[in-house]
Amino acid sequence: MSKLVLKQEILEQEQYILKCKNLLQKQFVHKNPVCYVHSYGCQGNVADGEKIKGMLSKMGYGFSDKAEGSDMVIFNTCAVREKAQNRVLGNLGMLIHYKDKNPNMIIGLCGCMVQQEHVANKIKKRFLGVNLVFGTHVLHKLPEMVYKILEGQKRVYDTTESDGVIAEGLPIVRDSKFKASVPISYGCNNFCTYCIVPYVRGRERSRDMDVVYNEVKDLVKSGCKEITLLGQNVNSYGNDLDSNVNFSKLLREINDIDGDFRIRFMTSHPKDATKELIDTMASCEKVCKHLHLPVQCGSDKILKAMNRKYNTKQYMEIVNYAREKMPNISFTSDIIVGFPGETYEDFKLTLELVKKVKYSSLFMFIYSPRKGTKAELMDDFIPKEEKSKWLMELIDCQNDISEMAHDEYVGNIEKVLFDDISKTNEGMLSGWTDSHLVVECKCDKIKVGEFADVLITKAHRMALIGELTTK
Ligand code: SAH
Ligand code: SF4
Ligand code: F3S
Repeated sequence: MSKLVLKQEILEQEQYILKCKNLLQKQFVHKNPVCYVHSYGCQGNVADGEKIKGMLSKMGYGFSDKAEGSDMVIFNTCAVREKAQNRVLGNLGMLIHYKDKNPNMIIGLCGCMVQQEHVANKIKKRFLGVNLVFGTHVLHKLPEMVYKILEGQKRVYDTTESDGVIAEGLPIVRDSKFKASVPISYGCNNFCTYCIVPYVRGRERSRDMDVVYNEVKDLVKSGCKEITLLGQNVNSYGNDLDSNVNFSKLLREINDIDGDFRIRFMTSHPKDATKELIDTMASCEKVCKHLHLPVQCGSDKILKAMNRKYNTKQYMEIVNYAREKMPNISFTSDIIVGFPGETYEDFKLTLELVKKVKYSSLFMFIYSPRKGTKAELMDDFIPKEEKSKWLMELIDCQNDISEMAHDEYVGNIEKVLFDDISKTNEGMLSGWTDSHLVVECKCDKIKVGEFADVLITKAHRMALIGELTTK
């Protein structure tokens, strides 16, 4: 069976959008309805949030940056760690309070957290004020669900289990005009033993290469300066397609699109990071020389228990090969501290690996047991306080490395895409180097959304400081 949602079904949803629009015009005579959509979690989830906004915008909703006072609030949730879930539940309590003041407020919960049956049931029982709950596989049916609510149904639930679908042609309201995320695949087949994602996102499925290519081409045409290709494992892109494509081929095709823009991608699973990928990065001038290559742990015993399907030797081989081909490449990574069965000796191997690779920055997490995963059933003897100490040791170690990595940039001229006003240095803009480091700089002639060459004059742990070079 095709994974693609039929065109007919998308057209049906477009009809529901029109029906919602009519109802809303009758309900809101003196003002436009306003919605607050907040996405938690990874960039893939944020990309879903942009589609949610796309559909709501077509119905006539405007957008607010706060829940209070909004006519509809949608939390697009993440389930990757307990903390992420608790944050949502905490904020949901606040929402219910706003709803006391505005009983017509529609509250929706969607995304990975509610795709777990036990969570959806809990919401059903305990949070009666939540009107709309929908899982990750039915996002494209949002118009139909909103229509039911607008027609008077108190609660609409759809957390259908599925291996996952691909819905093309949905409207998108993008958060930025000059930086865009483009999913190239959905779901995951890897079943790392700690991870909930394969359970809540279904099997890996790649979008058609022409569809991705055309989306990027249109974005570039509209002035977009940075495209991030997204997938839980971009390196296995195309494995499920009949045509003879892979991620390297996709990168080369996109690199050939005319225009002044850069290409990023995430996430690269080390087990599928090939020399072909590295050679492609090296030869494609628009592809940023930055590789987010999550190692998770430096102990082969733990990597095996995590079902990561590579060992540290293979990991270092790809890192070394990439450095040989692109001496300026920067690496970032994710680390889980305190996986079941991990000893301090194992953890020390992680520290060693981190020192060897010299990541420019790291995302570091304490292991969080997820219901239904294999690791949840493994014996875990190390107390939380001990794991927190290990995490602090890792953070200290990485801080020193980040500082050194940043120091090496002083004196370089870097191409920077400015994307915001600096929050720490008044009068400065902040942007990103090709290698994914933050640069802050006084910019008289440059605006947010533009590239500029910057001479790096100072390095701090979190950011580089620079001056525009006169052209
Ligand atoms: N697909 C990506 C990761 C997606 S989740 C990859 O394979 O690299 C992002 C990060 O969250 C993971 O890399 C991992 O470090 C962390 N993570 C996932 N599940 C976790 C858990 N149960 N506890 C703690 N961290 C977790
Ligand atoms: Fe989770 Fe592993 Fe899939 Fe990444 S590759 S989403 S860590 S199961
Ligand atoms: Fe979280 Fe789902 Fe992404 S669990 S990290 S939002 S795929």
